[in-house]
Amino acid sequence: MKKENLTVISQENLAPRIYRMKLKGESVRSMLTPGQFVHLKLGGRHPLLRRPISICDVEEDQLSIIYRVEGQGTSMLAEKKDGDTVDALGPLGEGFPITPSDDTALLIGGGVGIPPLYYLAKQLYDKGKRVKIILGFRRQEEMFLTEAFSRFGEVFVTTENGSCGTRGFVTDAIAKAGEFDVFYTCGPKPMLRAVEKAAGTNGYISLEERMGCGVGACLACVCDLKEAETDKSYVKACKDGPVFQAGEVVL
Ligand SMILES: Cc1cc2nc3c(=O)[nH]c(=O)nc-3n(C[C@H](O)[C@H](O)[C@H](O)COP(=O)(O)OP(=O)(O)OC[C@H]3O[C@@H](n4cnc5c(N)ncnc54)[C@H](O)[C@@H]3O)c2cc1C
Ligand code: FES
Repeated sequence: MKKENLTVISQENLAPRIYRMKLKGESVRSMLTPGQFVHLKLGGRHPLLRRPISICDVEEDQLSIIYRVEGQGTSMLAEKKDGDTVDALGPLGEGFPITPSDDTALLIGGGVGIPPLYYLAKQLYDKGKRVKIILGFRRQEEMFLTEAFSRFGEVFVTTENGSCGTRGFVTDAIAKAGEFDVFYTCGPKPMLRAVEKAAGTNGYISLEERMGCGVGACLACVCDLKEAETDKSYVKACKDGPVFQAGEVVL
């Protein structure tokens, strides 16, 4: 884990409130595992806490992140211009494992849970795996990255209002996607709960838990384990996760 002022090299509006930012810096070269995140400091005193954002793609010393403007922190990020710097701590957390025995992977992303799956899809594809991708949005105007994902495998889109692809939630497309050996999912908790129920046990979920320190010191991100082990009944999403095995934590 390193702390560095990364330099903004581009900022692009992909959809309403959704931006892709590219940043450059030496620490990016160590961001090798999909599912890990960077913790960004955006103001001096306000906001005091860093904001976690997933690694979406890495090319040599260039990092891509995709974020949705929600509040003060992400609004400040959206105001950054080329040449500005962003104080970034990373890579943080445990990312998605790639298991040699699983040949076909189903990736299921909702909203801003989609960006970390891009780096995962790229690595799975480079390792010769078959990749299928379900991307869920509220409506067509909010879609992003669908074309980019199609480089790595078949893409199934769902929209809640039926304006593109299958009408409904990501779980409504699982049957269409057909057979798979392992699934990987990231998105809001109700979506993860539904995916866990529908997609079986061989899979990994990534939590978008609220975080404080991001490094395991403050306990802001604690989640209960489903089956408490003898010596511990909880895990920290920032340090033990954000990726967990399906069924491991209470959602
Ligand atoms: C490991 C991880 C990876 C993430 N990756 C991405 C990403 O790639 N792209 C992206 O757009 N967002 C991502 N998020 C969510 C992102 O961190 C929050 O949207 C952001 O912190 C909001 O900050 P803010 O100051 O703009 O808004 P705030 O004013 O702090 O909050 C605005 C809204 O966001 C919610 N929120 C705040 N912090 C979080 C949080 N940590 N997780 C979920 N909701 C939160 C609040 O409940 C509130 O509704 C990730 C979160 C985690 C934990
Ligand atoms: S955010 Fe502080 S322990 Fe996880």
